[in-house]
Amino acid sequence: MQFQSLPGFREFYPDACALRNHIFGQWKQVARAFNFQEYDAPVLEPLELYIEKSGEEIVGQLFSFEDRGGRAVALRPEMTPSLARLIGAKANSLKRPIKWFNIGEHYRYEKPQKGRLRAFYQFNVDIFGEAGPAADAELIALLVQALRAFGLDSKDFKVRLSDRDLWLLILTAEGLDEDGSSTVLGIIDKLERTAREQTVEKLAQVLGDGAAAFLDRIEEVIAIRDFDALSAYISNLSLEGDGAEQAKQRLDDWKALLSGLKSSGAGDFIHIDLGIVRGLAYYTGFVFEAFEASGEGRALAGGGRYDALVKKLGGPEMSAVGFAMGDVTLVDLLDSKKRLPSYVQSPDFIAIIGGTEARDAALGDAALLRSMGYCVDYPLKNQGFGKQFKEANQKGARFALIYGTDELAKGVVKIRDFSTGAEQEFPREALATLAQELLASGFPGTEL
Ligand code: HAM
Repeated sequence: MQFQSLPGFREFYPDACALRNHIFGQWKQVARAFNFQEYDAPVLEPLELYIEKSGEEIVGQLFSFEDRGGRAVALRPEMTPSLARLIGAKANSLKRPIKWFNIGEHYRYEKPQKGRLRAFYQFNVDIFGEAGPAADAELIALLVQALRAFGLDSKDFKVRLSDRDLWLLILTAEGLDEDGSSTVLGIIDKLERTAREQTVEKLAQVLGDGAAAFLDRIEEVIAIRDFDALSAYISNLSLEGDGAEQAKQRLDDWKALLSGLKSSGAGDFIHIDLGIVRGLAYYTGFVFEAFEASGEGRALAGGGRYDALVKKLGGPEMSAVGFAMGDVTLVDLLDSKKRLPSYVQSPDFIAIIGGTEARDAALGDAALLRSMGYCVDYPLKNQGFGKQFKEANQKGARFALIYGTDELAKGVVKIRDFSTGAEQEFPREALATLAQELLASGFPGTEL
């Protein structure tokens, strides 16, 4: 019987691994460019970490079980709760703002479909200890750069920007209390994927008869696309006491965020869109998701502020903002935009070996070049020259190092440059000093 991998779990053959490495490499480079430091956390966590903290939707998708010690555990569906725990435990000794990133695999028992698997990688990037919108701007700018690094531009993707704080003000003005607001935000989160009548039915459980008219007003808010319109709408809300002052303050935060993003070159990618509220339970302020420019398909990345989570997990008061980008939707997008790089993993040198004595010489030279970091290969079996050259060509080697009886007798190695077909002999001792020049500019004294 041929065994199969589990649904939603991928196997990475070398080409797929090369693509994955390329993606991780770009992510890492962007995180480093923004001076974020890498951290890691366990793959298996106490189940309780996700109950309530992550919210109903994710808890329903957990790979959870009882371990041999009777503990209820779960494979991590996301990084944020683990990260918040790490930060909380060392909060006092960590220099703020704390700027950390991770690339790791996550597990959710979802129905495998386009853009959704059961095991996927996420690039998590978070800032702790900075409450102002400069941190949100920095992260969204990093998100934009992480996609631009793959050659994508504003014709390819957009970041939909929203704000749970503004929603709470809007819903307070609508007369809703905290519980009501949180239920309604859950309904708004599902709006795009739910039939209108069903949404009205759900809203009616909180709002009674006024649900349909309420939905009309909500849709008006969701249709807002520019800051002036948003500002006008919020300024006209009937808010009492603190509410009016909070609204004014929040609009100032928006201004600061948008201006920071514009200065960082991310302005063209930002689309104000209050239709985004995020399904996870812990978000508190600005929230955002990146999508393919047409808005089609699943999100490329999502995140936002979560100022209360560190404390909820037993740490001190600590503001936080972050996002995660997934590899599955990113690869789909790169594929559809013809931006998938083609990988040539080929050796710098391949030894062509003529007999047992020559093998000793070839292995010695290969060991030396490998210890210097060059990629060197040679046939594991004795073969005729013709076959060896054919295989060296197929492997895309840059140079052949030819060890025949004549060369051995003279203490030389004959080098063939596969890009020109030219051959030259060099003393074997010169190989180590010659290798770099060969790879950079071909045979000494010749123009490549
Ligand atoms: P999330 O929106 O659940 O947020 O996931 C972020 C990204 O991970 C999604 O936009 C998507 O690209 C990818 N993703 C999620 N589930 C799957 C799946 N089943 N298959 C393939 N890709 C998937 C979070 O996880 C938050 N913890 C992000 C965050 C970090 N918030 C603050 N810091």
